[in-house]
Amino acid sequence: MSEGGGSQSRCRVRFLLDDELVELDDIDPNRTVLQFLREDLRRTGTKEGCAEGDCGACTVVVADLDVTGKRVRARAVNSCIQLLPTLDGKELLTVESLGRDGLHPAQKALVDYHGSQCGFCTPGFVMSLFALYKGNADPGRRDIDDALAGNLCRCTGYQPIIKAAKAMYGEAPENGDWLHMPAGEGSDEDERVRRLKSVASDQSLCVEWGSRRFFAPRCVDEMADLLERHPEATLLAGGTDVGLWVTKHHRDLEVVVYTGNVEGLLDAGLTDQYIDIGGAVTLTDAMPLIIGQYKALEELFVRFASPPIRNVGTLAGNIANGSPIGDSMPVLMALGADLVLRRGAHQRTIALHDFYIAYQQTALRTAEFIERILIPLPNENEHVQSYKVSKRFDQDTSAVCAAFRLRLEGGIVAEFRAAYGGMAEIPKRARHCEEALIGEEWNEAGVNAALDALGSDFTPISDMRSSSEYRSQVCRNLLQRFFLETTGASSERVYSYGR
Ligand SMILES: Cc1cc2nc3c(=O)[nH]c(=O)nc-3n(C[C@H](O)[C@H](O)[C@H](O)COP(=O)(O)OP(=O)(O)OC[C@H]3O[C@@H](n4cnc5c(N)ncnc54)[C@H](O)[C@@H]3O)c2cc1C
Ligand code: FES
Ligand code: FES
Repeated sequence: MSEGGGSQSRCRVRFLLDDELVELDDIDPNRTVLQFLREDLRRTGTKEGCAEGDCGACTVVVADLDVTGKRVRARAVNSCIQLLPTLDGKELLTVESLGRDGLHPAQKALVDYHGSQCGFCTPGFVMSLFALYKGNADPGRRDIDDALAGNLCRCTGYQPIIKAAKAMYGEAPENGDWLHMPAGEGSDEDERVRRLKSVASDQSLCVEWGSRRFFAPRCVDEMADLLERHPEATLLAGGTDVGLWVTKHHRDLEVVVYTGNVEGLLDAGLTDQYIDIGGAVTLTDAMPLIIGQYKALEELFVRFASPPIRNVGTLAGNIANGSPIGDSMPVLMALGADLVLRRGAHQRTIALHDFYIAYQQTALRTAEFIERILIPLPNENEHVQSYKVSKRFDQDTSAVCAAFRLRLEGGIVAEFRAAYGGMAEIPKRARHCEEALIGEEWNEAGVNAALDALGSDFTPISDMRSSSEYRSQVCRNLLQRFFLETTGASSERVYSYGR
């Protein structure tokens, strides 16, 4: 028993690896899964390339139970930025796990289609292909591209790997086990569920290592209480930002409170007014709900990082990180999202556009956290769109990100919101531009006035992603594009609601 989680807490991290139960009770909670694999277990199939979630050489698969508790879900994860205690209650699968009984269909297809040259990237591709195999029984080309968006290969080229992705399904054995069969199949699925249930625990976790503490509370009250008792703690969700503080900035995280096991933060659903997303819901789980209501946002979310990042990275983490170039904030501001913040027993609600104070400074007080994200449902006669401009299509940081929401009444702008990332030190609404349009006709003259007003909203900087001039031009062009798309003068990308 240890401090923090009360009488129900435990200090041993437990997870499955190759059908064995791994129990660790003397671990540095700042240690990454990749370090554990390569340095402690000498399982060197998993490689280190960038150590920042970009190249995919370190990809492993983490399996747990879905919300029904009846099916296993297997998701690709970047082991280089995952802290080891986050594996508690789950199953870890590495490239060695797949090859134990001869080549896995994903491996066999890569061999047959010549999908490997120097081989450094190959274990990572194998694991991303395996996650696709277990997650999608019949992927299209776009699904394959997306599944591989987080894996870089410098010598083979991607065509043979994409061919292998299609071919691996033809390699599935007759009535094979869970590991070797595609999504939804596998003679021993029930046994797999039973084993995952056996390693999961209702108890909180508190790992102590020297002066370091890693708390994984189970409920919101307990987490709120822990943060009040440890106001210096780092709140950890998916770790796709925080993990880099350890691997790239070499920071020591003394006290960590992990949101990933907190039951009251892991749910998401629809109310009669909102898309209601808990403060620990991953981007992978939040995206279908948001896209289900706002189809127009599909491209933005598909272009958000890569599956291994989205599988652990949370919407709340993206918002709280407060990066001026984060992708979700402009669109959430345009949609009028609110945040429910919690400190101790106290809750308050704040509009997202009031959340950002200065560069990477938010309205969050000490020991306060995002409990829920509330996104209004679409209204009648609304047009919504979001655009991301970056050098690469997949897995790249925005130079500029823009989002617009427009409601017209008889050709007059009744409501208009424009929000931008990459244009200021915080994600920000373009208030002058909005004011210039409201009450005006939605026509070229009105939009031209709004384009001029954008100059009063932003004075962007130049950096390695783009110049100030480029940003200013793109910012204007995106509003113009939105206008052309809503008036039918351009392609049909803008979606209208309530028609
Ligand atoms: C390779 C790579 C690609 C990326 N691509 C993109 C991209 O395309 N677009 C983009 O916008 N971002 C991108 N990111 C950044 C990152 O993935 C996102 O910001 C992600 O949503 C962060 O979520 P997380 O759960 O991993 O947060 P963490 O890293 O766990 O935490 C981030 C911050 O949020 C705080 N936090 C977490 N949860 C809460 C909560 N409930 N309440 C209060 N504070 C909280 C943490 O304390 C920390 O300060 C990328 C990152 C990497 C490594
Ligand atoms: S080592 Fe490059 S993504 Fe992990
Ligand atoms: S085979 Fe060499 S990097 Fe991909």
